[in-house]
Amino acid sequence: MAEAAIRKQLIMAKSDSFNVVTGGAGFIGSHLTRALLRRGGRVRVIDNFSTGKRENMAELMEQFPDTLELCEHDIRDLEGLQKLFSGGEVIFHHAAIPSVQKSVENPLESNSANVEGTLKVLIAARYSSARKVIYAASSSVYGNSEELPKHEGMKPQPMSPYAIDKYAGELYCKAFSDIYKLPTLSLRYFNIFGPHQDPDSPYAAVIPRFIARMLAGKPPVIYDDGEQSRDFTFVHNAVIANLKASESKASGISMNIACGDRFSLNEVVRLLNEILGTSLKPVYEPSRLGDVRHSQADVSLAESAIGFLPEVGFREGLRRTVEWFQKKTLD
Ligand SMILES: NC(=O)c1ccc[n+]([C@@H]2O[C@H](COP(=O)([O-])OP(=O)(O)OC[C@H]3O[C@@H](n4cnc5c(N)ncnc54)[C@H](O)[C@@H]3O)[C@@H](O)[C@H]2O)c1
Repeated sequence: MAEAAIRKQLIMAKSDSFNVVTGGAGFIGSHLTRALLRRGGRVRVIDNFSTGKRENMAELMEQFPDTLELCEHDIRDLEGLQKLFSGGEVIFHHAAIPSVQKSVENPLESNSANVEGTLKVLIAARYSSARKVIYAASSSVYGNSEELPKHEGMKPQPMSPYAIDKYAGELYCKAFSDIYKLPTLSLRYFNIFGPHQDPDSPYAAVIPRFIARMLAGKPPVIYDDGEQSRDFTFVHNAVIANLKASESKASGISMNIACGDRFSLNEVVRLLNEILGTSLKPVYEPSRLGDVRHSQADVSLAESAIGFLPEVGFREGLRRTVEWFQKKTLD
């Protein structure tokens, strides 16, 4: 990033406190950024736009021209990161390559963005005296263990390079809390879904993929028999968890963020048919490497540690997501 741009940002940083969202142009990061801005705070988004969307940012820049600052930057450039974190209060760390499939295809690149990137975020946060780092961790840490619901006392069994990366990030967060007294919290997200989630990439998550196809009158594609299940979590709940985490005194722990329920993919298609008034039958294809069979969270630790309770259930979240996609199709 240009030296002049960094200097300008440093001047701004001195005049007002602000929070940082890495990966703020992405799906979850942009929802969190919007929520922080709506609360009246200043936000600095750091993103390299590898999967982030410029349209997410353009919309927010228009609404919050004076309090949102966008820095196109790669978190693996530590020197630049330290300058950008200077004066930052809470670092919400969402930047990552968030895909099991991509990590299977290119584990080195996944490790570089997800592990090296997270370590550099922690180092920069430590030296810039940030008040706290909130890390977007992943339920993939639990792997295929049969026990349900998954709770934080279970032994991690990451099955893919992505899951290993995300778990390594958690371990670094804990180590920085223990050794350097940098307050950190890791939020293990379970299948977050909602508006603005990309349906088009070959690595797209299942709900936006299903909705986009079904809105076009095409059958959804399911890998495996469709009886695999997930604790699908509407994105508003992840935002609430971040806000609660940033306000809490807890540090050095990992906690599940989900609804505590689970739905099979066949059930998701059935509900979508109901919402859309269609009767599309799924097409089944062979299962993919690294995918887990069932996932459901115990969310009691997040409730006791940071006061988190999911506010929007799966069906309501699905309805709101379909509504957003329908509106987008009309625009
Ligand atoms: N979506 C989910 O269900 C889910 C589940 C578990 C964990 N997570 C975690 O939540 C976070 C956000 O995921 P998402 O679904 O919003 O994905 P996303 O791809 O929409 O967002 C990731 C953002 O990080 C940015 N980014 C990637 N590498 C970067 C780098 N080196 N430097 C700067 N920016 C970089 C991308 O451009 C993008 O804007 C990720 O850390 C992911 O691992 C997501």
